[in-house]
Amino acid sequence: MAPRTESLHVVGGTRLEGEIAVLGAKNAALKHMVATLLAPGTHHLTNVPRILDVEIMGKVLEHVGATCERDGTTLEIVVPEVPNPEAPLDLVRQMRASILILGTLLARTGEARVALPGGDDFGSRPIDLHLGGLEDLGAVFDLQHGVLRATAPDGLHGADIFLEFPSVGATENILLASVLSEGTTTIGNAAREPELADLAAYLTAMGAEIEGAGTSTIRVHGVDELRPADHHVVPDRLEAGTYIVAGAMTGGRVTIRDCIPAHLRMELSKLGDAGATITTGDDWVTIEGPDRPEPIDFATLPFPGYHTDMHPQMVALLSVASGTSIATENVYAARFRYIGELNRMGADVHTDGQHIIIRGVEELSGCEVDGCDIRAAAALTIAGLRADGTTIVVGAQHVDRGYDGFVDNLRSLGATIDRI
Ligand code: UD1
Repeated sequence: MAPRTESLHVVGGTRLEGEIAVLGAKNAALKHMVATLLAPGTHHLTNVPRILDVEIMGKVLEHVGATCERDGTTLEIVVPEVPNPEAPLDLVRQMRASILILGTLLARTGEARVALPGGDDFGSRPIDLHLGGLEDLGAVFDLQHGVLRATAPDGLHGADIFLEFPSVGATENILLASVLSEGTTTIGNAAREPELADLAAYLTAMGAEIEGAGTSTIRVHGVDELRPADHHVVPDRLEAGTYIVAGAMTGGRVTIRDCIPAHLRMELSKLGDAGATITTGDDWVTIEGPDRPEPIDFATLPFPGYHTDMHPQMVALLSVASGTSIATENVYAARFRYIGELNRMGADVHTDGQHIIIRGVEELSGCEVDGCDIRAAAALTIAGLRADGTTIVVGAQHVDRGYDGFVDNLRSLGATIDRI
């Protein structure tokens, strides 16, 4: 992780007003970048956010022999006939999404060497479901000195896989490996996230045969080879959702364009319960108010449930509600580090196992807080928008990992925010 040299300084008290547009989803673009490795030649991805994680993934691709050039929000990726089967160990450790290179390189080259992944610290984040699924397809693993080596002595072949939990990454890793496997693979209890459905759409454009993506049973008929393709990345529901909660936090009126409200149904419904007025079109959302949120309960779940990556932002909002709310975190065992920081601002939030009890306070007061991961930094910034005085969110680089133009977007809505 880079040293914490930059912070966001937010002066609270302004109602956000205006319109912004969001770009493609980080959690889709990163996977699409890996997927390019399945087909030699030139791919174009459009609507790609200019964020740190995309830059890191570009370096991962370059290490395995691809070239990756950006022109605005378009990426041109040229994939070689024979990629290097070893992913750069230091980069993989920085970013969990890079574990998808395992199934991909295995399918393309018959071998992969990858470090065990890092990423945000939400407690232990194992990859057993990734490995179990790939083993069912014929992979064999050997872990030595932190480096995982995968081979497929008899090639990869179709299998009937049933996941214990609908893990997004495990479903994607199996999908990426199975499109070039021999025969048919079925993934039961698959993740249904829109970003995964978008990955399947991109793979289909490359010539893959996939049925049921976006449902809990995905069927893949393996093909011999794939061809390069161009793809427009699905809008980022988390980026849109973060600005929507920011608007609600300030009791303002904010419109988000170029998003898909249908991908945020549960989150918007909960914001409505909290007293916000929400209007949607096919590709825009407007949120208005409330002056003070009402308390609500919510529980994070795999899609189409309430997204865990929208949990800290919602807790920030509910910290100033007119009563007590309960949030239950079902996806990660330890996504609670930001709570102590929120309490430093005067919030009254505590945990009991997986439950978060949020007693709404009248007012937050700005102070220096640690934005320890992407969504925590966003949530603390949201809290700062309503707090008395100045909030300093240390760790601006976390925001850079997932939000293109975070400070500029908030400024254009009227926020007083600087990066220092
Ligand atoms: C992806 C998203 C992340 C989001 C998460 C859940 C990316 C780059 N990241 O992460 O932002 O929070 O989906 O929507 O797309 N698990 C296991 N074993 C496994 C795999 C997962 O126990 O082999 C557990 C994890 O520890 C976690 C839960 O399953 O508790 C969900 O993880 P998963 O759905 O795999 O999330 P990611 O794909 O890592």
